[in-house]
Amino acid sequence: MKIGILISGRGSNMLAIVKAVQSGLIPDSKVAVVISDKINAEGLLKAKERKIETLVVGKNGRAREEHDAEIVEELKKRGVELICLAGYMRLLSKEFVRAFPNKIINIHPSLLPAFKGLDAQRQAIDYGVKVSGCTVHFVDEALDHGAIIAQKTVAVIDDDTAETLAARILEHEHALYVQAVRQIAAGEIEIVGRRVVSVKN
Ligand code: GRF
Repeated sequence: MKIGILISGRGSNMLAIVKAVQSGLIPDSKVAVVISDKINAEGLLKAKERKIETLVVGKNGRAREEHDAEIVEELKKRGVELICLAGYMRLLSKEFVRAFPNKIINIHPSLLPAFKGLDAQRQAIDYGVKVSGCTVHFVDEALDHGAIIAQKTVAVIDDDTAETLAARILEHEHALYVQAVRQIAAGEIEIVGRRVVSVKN
């Protein structure tokens, strides 16, 4: 399975996926390209160190559709079959989502459908929940809305700040994201309506 990863920043989830592919934990797969919309994304360097092709597709004042069309073209050119959003900070246009139906996944640092959008860990602290976590889900045309592949709960403790909670959730994100990509690569899951279930043999 050819994987494309989209990032905007640090790229720790991207690196976790790259390492899992390169170590064979995610079977029969290759990370074909890492694309960033930001030229200074830290993750670009991490991908290069792992000998992964990187590409910067900047927005350069263009409309979302035009920017996305260029990314779609680059992904198609490389035969990418699964796109992992990993801290990619832009919403995808419907054209992008429709170009890869059920082939785009994302990781979000909350238990969806709670705390969609930006600063999910801060939202969790401000709301006062005792449990939060992370979610890997398919991407559809609505924000943080597609079918849920996997979730992991993380306790919120009294002393937590948005930063300490984010750090604790992040430790679990890497394993959860790798596990979800592995299941997809191995053909272990399918989407039935809004539910993602194990394929029964
Ligand atoms: C993670 O918390 C992820 O859940 C969210 O953005 C952050 C990206 O971190 N979507 P990194 O770039 O993977 O280190």
